[in-house]
Amino acid sequence: AQDTLLREFEEKIECGFAIEPKDRMPAGYRKHLVRQMSQHAHSEVIGMQPEGNWVTRAPSLRAKQILLAKIQDEGGHGLYLYSAAETLGVSRDELIEQLHTGKAKYSNIFNYPALSWADIGAIGWLVDGAAIVNQVSLQRTSYGPYSRAMVRICKEESFHQRQGYEIMAKMMAGTADQKAMAQDAMNRWWWPSLMMFGPHDSDSPHTGDAFKWKIKRHSNDELRQKFIDKTVQQAEVIGLTIPDKDLKWNEEKKCYDHGEINWEEFSRVIGGDGPCNKQRMEHHISVHNEGAWVREAAEAYSAKQQYSKNV
Ligand code: 3HC
Repeated sequence: AQDTLLREFEEKIECGFAIEPKDRMPAGYRKHLVRQMSQHAHSEVIGMQPEGNWVTRAPSLRAKQILLAKIQDEGGHGLYLYSAAETLGVSRDELIEQLHTGKAKYSNIFNYPALSWADIGAIGWLVDGAAIVNQVSLQRTSYGPYSRAMVRICKEESFHQRQGYEIMAKMMAGTADQKAMAQDAMNRWWWPSLMMFGPHDSDSPHTGDAFKWKIKRHSNDELRQKFIDKTVQQAEVIGLTIPDKDLKWNEEKKCYDHGEINWEEFSRVIGGDGPCNKQRMEHHISVHNEGAWVREAAEAYSAKQQYSKNV
């Protein structure tokens, strides 16, 4: 019976059908998804911190409104992804505990400080731009709840990318100081954005299973290349320089060759020793504890509702 159920799973993956929460699935498939989906959710929520830092200092009411809307979206993306991960039989408390104890990761990119308003432009344009390339591909992931969350999230991400690019375009059309500020942000966010796509395929331990189970539909390097090719042109249009002296169009391969990524920095940052790791976690833990009363009140309220329904 066990083999038949596994065969059913394999046939569904083979034929490109979505795997749903009630379907039988190999333990490894479930584990792989809980890991990736929960880390995706953690990234969305931690990502609200660098941006939240600039709400009170946005240069106009319109900029403040847009930034608030974007941060609210990221919170929502986190909720979709936590809920989708919970369909695999894991609780929110477990996932948060994994984040707080460092057992779970979140995206490297959110361990860098947002030092100027141009950073908010660079984050929207580069970080959300990279996230879009990754998430458009993930719309075709084999796990139903994850792929449906991606479809919804991708719609909102394009607004995030566009508003970031608008900030950079405006600054590059501004004063010399504004141009310098935008280029400085570009210099600091370019390489960590490339690292968002993960290690080279040859150094990616999860990619084998991810392809076998159609969790990943493109590889880390494929998506990174797609992002570079698209973003270099956008930078050129507004006059920003890519901080990579080895970046060069390769006519034969029809894509950009680029310099080597600093993998030592990547593993240091995802290992907990980036510029802001400590502060991001302290902030998340303290806000989580301060907000305990909200969760308790919500649970008490729903228990009361349940009780009054049953009497
Ligand atoms: N940051 C932190 N850790 C990373 C990483 C990154 N950018 N890239 C890879 N890693 C970790 C992996 O999690 C894995 O560690 P683990 O076993 O402890 O989980 C290890 O490095 C090896 O990497 P692999 O390539 O083998 O791992 P994956 O096959 O999982 O690929 C991934 C990594 C491409 C990030 C994949 O997990 C993925 O596509 N995740 C979903 C997308 C996501 O998480 N995006 C994060 C940004 S979300 C965002 O930007 C929000 C936006 O709205 C601003």
